[in-house]
Amino acid sequence: MTIVGIDYEKCNGCRLCILECRFFIFDEAKKKVLFEDLDNMCSLCGHCIAVCPQDAIIYEDFGDEAFPFEGIEKLDSIVPYDNLYKFLRGHRSIRHYKKKEIPKETLKKVIDLMQYAPTGSNLRLEKYAVVSDREILKSLSDMVTDTLLNTLGMRAQYGKSFEARKKKYKIPLFYDAPHVIIVSSMLDIRLADHNIGIIITYGRLAAQSLGLGTCWNGYIQMASQHNKKIMKLAGVRGNRLGAFMIGYPNITFKRAPPRSRKPVKGLKLD
Ligand SMILES: Cc1cc2nc3c(=O)[nH]c(=O)nc-3n(C[C@H](O)[C@H](O)[C@H](O)COP(=O)(O)O)c2cc1C
Repeated sequence: MTIVGIDYEKCNGCRLCILECRFFIFDEAKKKVLFEDLDNMCSLCGHCIAVCPQDAIIYEDFGDEAFPFEGIEKLDSIVPYDNLYKFLRGHRSIRHYKKKEIPKETLKKVIDLMQYAPTGSNLRLEKYAVVSDREILKSLSDMVTDTLLNTLGMRAQYGKSFEARKKKYKIPLFYDAPHVIIVSSMLDIRLADHNIGIIITYGRLAAQSLGLGTCWNGYIQMASQHNKKIMKLAGVRGNRLGAFMIGYPNITFKRAPPRSRKPVKGLKLD
């Protein structure tokens, strides 16, 4: 993956690429924009590609093409705040799923948007897995529960609710959802958890726009830090993971629940 250079036949010298590059890779001192030391510095954020009015930036091996679309210059016309407000306030953790599996094409759409989530320094070191095998999901559910209750000593906290879940669900940890999507990271720093969290949020919102329901699974995240067999069983590599259940919701909500407003320093909320 690399930015190769500029197509000077197209370039109108507007210098927007220079202004936009956060690493100041484009050399203003020279008459032409040059790409020196690009391999060492460029984070492949693609802002130069995105901002160029002449589409003059040459790149290769991104695995994807730039995407021009109607409304890009006025994104609020695509999703105005009032619509987003309802979409986000109506967003719920879903704990009741239909048995029906999600078609591969639909799952691909969810994963596709997850891969456009921002990551720190645009590192994009995450790996993705969709687990749909009932046996594996059951084993994961058992292993995570055992790790939380016995290794992490959380029986007092979760013992009763896990027992109650067992009566209701065949695969209690995942509420019998047909699929679990796992995102793992090769990084072992806090930034990895932030990246994973943002990626999962993109996936969950994409799922909602496709009529699907999802729920975070924090338990597998906690347990996997203490039992590396969980990663192996889930078929993912890395040092950190995040996961969410996904399926067709078997529940509808009639209203969004209330939430307390937290005070904001520097801004008075009514
Ligand atoms: C990081 C994180 C981990 C979570 N882990 C779980 C989980 O393991 N199981 C579960 O049922 N819900 C889990 N949730 C869902 C929260 O309980 C839920 O977001 C909260 O109760 C508010 O409900 P809402 O999402 O419907 O607004 C998790 C949420 C987040 C953000």
